[in-house]
Amino acid sequence: MDAKILVLPGDGIGPEVTAKSVAALEKVASRFGHRFVFEEALMGGIAIDKTGTALPDETIKAAEGCDAILLGAVGGPKWDNPSAAVRPEQGLLKIRQHFGLFANLRPVKAYPMLAEHAPLRRELLEGVDMLFVRELTGGIYFGARQEQGESDRAYDTMLYSVDEVKRVADVAFRAAQGRRKKVTSIDKANVLAAMRLWRRTVVEVHEDFSDVALEHLLVDAATMHMLTRPASFDVILAGNMFGDILSDEASVLAGSLGMLPSASLRSDTFGLYEPIHGSAPDIAGQGKANPTGTILSAALLLRYSLRLEAEAQAVEQAVEQTLAEGARTADIAPRGGPYVSTDEFAATVLAHI
Ligand code: IPM
Ligand code: MG
Repeated sequence: MDAKILVLPGDGIGPEVTAKSVAALEKVASRFGHRFVFEEALMGGIAIDKTGTALPDETIKAAEGCDAILLGAVGGPKWDNPSAAVRPEQGLLKIRQHFGLFANLRPVKAYPMLAEHAPLRRELLEGVDMLFVRELTGGIYFGARQEQGESDRAYDTMLYSVDEVKRVADVAFRAAQGRRKKVTSIDKANVLAAMRLWRRTVVEVHEDFSDVALEHLLVDAATMHMLTRPASFDVILAGNMFGDILSDEASVLAGSLGMLPSASLRSDTFGLYEPIHGSAPDIAGQGKANPTGTILSAALLLRYSLRLEAEAQAVEQAVEQTLAEGARTADIAPRGGPYVSTDEFAATVLAHI
């Protein structure tokens, strides 16, 4: 198959890890007989430096001509002034909104070989395999907002419409049908009106999925259950902000933030793929970055945008094999133990593809 992929390396370790992900896709192309064309564009801090905006129009135009986007990470101390008018993160929010990528999928798996690296007891981690479905283009991230300006007040608004909740709930229930058939919906229905609409709508969508079990959890209780019974979760459906917070918490179960991929999707096959970690400016350029999250994001790209399931699995298995053989990047190495560089780790993954 022919596919065109836009690469947005971004800031910090973004360029190092996207390079490995592109190499993995190139390996897949040659091994399975596909032709992938890569184009590169600016986003984040580097885009602010070069163009004055975090998401230049040329980047949007380039993305419109592609089948999928592969993103590294954006941000860094250089652009971190809270009162700055332009911030790297704006690029991320704008690209999600511009392309209507309302469903953010974040799979979290606890690899047994990394269990000693996670702060939870090994027996709690056994069987942890969850999929976050986070609403990504609505909620408090995109509701009416008033910056402080000259006044002594500022506010944000959590707003959800029935249709916004329906379409993302639908994604969650469908995903559960292909997994362990359980959805846990997260809300704060005891306090927030938007979250009461959320719960009512999820219950309504559930009527079409009688083979899937539905559980509701208030977000505060969910943070606790995530650590006391993590293996009991299958699909976790959450609004934009609660999904953001809980998915970072869940990353602890995987041993390192560097392990986790994500896919941001809409109802066709177009999607944006990125690791869930940030730009880690403190380790940028040192060969210490873990490319796993970005390489696994490439696997999700193969699965969801290109519908190449065998190829996606080949990448995922290559990562598992690399870990099983004992290769560890700095973030997942035993304390003070030896670790391999980003280059070495990625080379082993590629060899297994
Ligand atoms: C994420 C990040 C972003 C978010 C930030 C960088 C805007 O935390 O993708 O989880 O809050 O969505
Ligand atoms: Mg986040």
